[in-house]
Amino acid sequence: MSRLEFPSGFLWGSSTSAHQVEGDNKNSDWWVWEHSQKRAEELRKQNKNFQDYYSGIACDFYNRYEQDFDIAKELNHNAQRISIEWARIQPTKDFFDQNAMEHYRRVLAALKKRGMRTFVTLHHFTNPIWFSQLGGWENKDNIELFLDYAKKVVLDLGSMIDFICVINEPDLYAGMAYAQGFFPPQKRSWFLAGKVQKNLISAHIQFYKVAKGIIYECGYVCQIGTAQHVMKIKALGFLKFFTYFIEKAVYLNFLDKTAACSDFIGINYYTRHSIKFSWRYPFIRNIEIEPGTLLTDFGWEVYPQGFLYLLRQIKKYNKPIYITENGAADAEDKLRKDFICQHLKFLHQAISEGIPVQGYLHWSLLDNFEWAHGYEMKFGLVEIERQNGLRRKIRDSAYYYADICKNNYLEI
Ligand code: GCO
Repeated sequence: MSRLEFPSGFLWGSSTSAHQVEGDNKNSDWWVWEHSQKRAEELRKQNKNFQDYYSGIACDFYNRYEQDFDIAKELNHNAQRISIEWARIQPTKDFFDQNAMEHYRRVLAALKKRGMRTFVTLHHFTNPIWFSQLGGWENKDNIELFLDYAKKVVLDLGSMIDFICVINEPDLYAGMAYAQGFFPPQKRSWFLAGKVQKNLISAHIQFYKVAKGIIYECGYVCQIGTAQHVMKIKALGFLKFFTYFIEKAVYLNFLDKTAACSDFIGINYYTRHSIKFSWRYPFIRNIEIEPGTLLTDFGWEVYPQGFLYLLRQIKKYNKPIYITENGAADAEDKLRKDFICQHLKFLHQAISEGIPVQGYLHWSLLDNFEWAHGYEMKFGLVEIERQNGLRRKIRDSAYYYADICKNNYLEI
């Protein structure tokens, strides 16, 4: 057995996002989409029961956050990532709901009371309905609207936030919502996705510039960064020669453009994607993974060595790095323990190579609403028994991870 020690002060915890856990997020574009005729048709064609694809009450985290933070604390987590739901704070264009702001103040206070560091995402895929009706992220003029909300959050809640992840996975969001058509508004145009990517970059930069001023004037300490989805890409055929350009389009470009306006870099890593060129839109397609490959319930390849590859790439930005997401869909909890162990092993190697990783947040604390996949995928350290009044049941792997969090080392 050998012991891999992590640097002192390393942050250990887990991640969540508002729409996926809170429940009743009625003023968001996702809620509208989940209940739309188009979505119902789509699910009917796939022979799916659309009840399983409504976010509905989710994990009722909106009301049960104290209980959930108790669990996180019991599991020795010293940091927690949540997101603020813009559609709650600003349900209509001209109204900021102070009660909603107060709710998040209580949520953050509950974390602080437990001695935990707070990571807060300002935009995690969902938009207020009114914002999407104005053209959402396609429209450059709308960036200003996001900034109004984001500035308000910093001003009101900044004293309790340690890390702000401005926009979660900007490139993945642009791709899923505007090129691949999986997320609302389900457009399918690489051109539009490019435009949205550009607007998200600009939103991040503009936010950084104004928020830094607010933080300084108010004497807050929060740092500003991102939570970027990174993936190891295995391109086959002639596409292989374009790997660098694919990496650039999929995650590096955003980081290249925003690193100077980020105090830290947050990365979300899950898997390796094997792709090939296709003559049909969207011009790439996933390829069959070799038989025998270890897969999560999502069919995603378990590829921990990719973590190291990506961290080496991200070193060049010379910023503290936090792993803002890493996890596996694994309902039976068969592979999560080993998944955590293997990924932390490569993470540790990265640290010993001088890559400044300062924290690891597992995705996710709770089984939650996995976007277009509804409640099918179970990413939680804690199982939610949906048929049993949303009872929380801690998985074995959560206790395994809890020991690592407590010891600040991994035993292999
Ligand atoms: C994302 C999001 C999370 C997901 C998680 C599992 O990466 O899509 O940040 O909201 O639930 O990644 O797919």
